[in-house]
Amino acid sequence: MTLRSVILGTGSALPRRRVDNAELATMVDTSDEWIVERTGIRTRYVAGEGESTTTLAAEASRHALEMAGLQAAGIDLIILATATPDQTFPASATTVQAALGINDCIAFDVAAVCSGFLYAMTVADNMLRGGAGKTALVIGAETFSRILDWEDRTTCVLFGDGAGAAVLRAEETPAEGGRGILASKLHADGRHNGLLHVDGGPSSTGTVGKVRMKGQDVFRHAVVNLAQVMKEVLDVAGLSTSDIDWVVPHQANARILDATARKLGLDPAQVVVTVDRHANTSAASVPLALDTAVRDGRIKQGDLVVLEAMGGGFTWGACVLRY
Ligand code: COA
Repeated sequence: MTLRSVILGTGSALPRRRVDNAELATMVDTSDEWIVERTGIRTRYVAGEGESTTTLAAEASRHALEMAGLQAAGIDLIILATATPDQTFPASATTVQAALGINDCIAFDVAAVCSGFLYAMTVADNMLRGGAGKTALVIGAETFSRILDWEDRTTCVLFGDGAGAAVLRAEETPAEGGRGILASKLHADGRHNGLLHVDGGPSSTGTVGKVRMKGQDVFRHAVVNLAQVMKEVLDVAGLSTSDIDWVVPHQANARILDATARKLGLDPAQVVVTVDRHANTSAASVPLALDTAVRDGRIKQGDLVVLEAMGGGFTWGACVLRY
């Protein structure tokens, strides 16, 4: 038997307001045709009054706890991945902790932008297997709408708001064929900071800043890095692409998803796609897509699932697990 972190439940949450491409075309010089052809995005959700990163995170967490059949009091560790915290401090994880009514557990945020959920899962997995606790709540939550330049058509059409969560528990599982996280691999290369960043911050400009991106450069790096890290993580787990049942990728652009699947020789039907509905929700995108495929019955217990993401930094990573 081997001690592994097993996903007991998933959950997600979206803001009330859905914005389609036609509505964006009334705000900037763009069209439904351009957005669908270049990105595959048709709609995204935008947070309104009373909605924030932590309200969405708390709602997603409640759904994940419900699926896991656990009370919030049973959580030992909360890791929240976000680039859009409610405040600079305290960590948004502690705001979610309070909203869930948990009086004492470990709680902190992780900042790795779109790779945030992969980073948070890997940290949680290592902490659980290291004995820091038995049960973790891992969340990816964002309100990118609040850091978009709504006059910049090259970025504002690409992102959306939302949250996803997973409950992980350390369990002894059979070494062969057992459930849980089998391997993870993370990377960062800060030389590419300038290709995707926010042009503000508390210690630089003293302002919140807006998202800036050189889209074509990001695209090129994404396809190469994602295919590479997926191969790497499968190697570590002693598996090959033919063993994979599902890939749950970061949802940035349908063309990146297609190109990565092709590079790995995967059937596009094995790739979970939600970018058409949610757009790029940064750290929330992987857990939102995971929850979608779990709840619609595609991902079943025992399936081999690869999660992957790449984002600002650059940061990127992949994780292979038996659901
Ligand atoms: N509507 C209409 N036209 C637009 C537009 C929009 N929303 N955004 C850009 N354009 C224009 C550009 O100004 C350019 O016009 P020009 O040829 O007159 O200069 C033209 O469309 C082509 O722009 P380009 O940037 O070359 O398009 P592209 O095919 O590379 O697609 C992205 C742009 C952003 C969709 C694409 O590069 C991409 O998805 N990159 C990766 C982004 C990403 O994944 N980021 C997150 C990683 S976590």
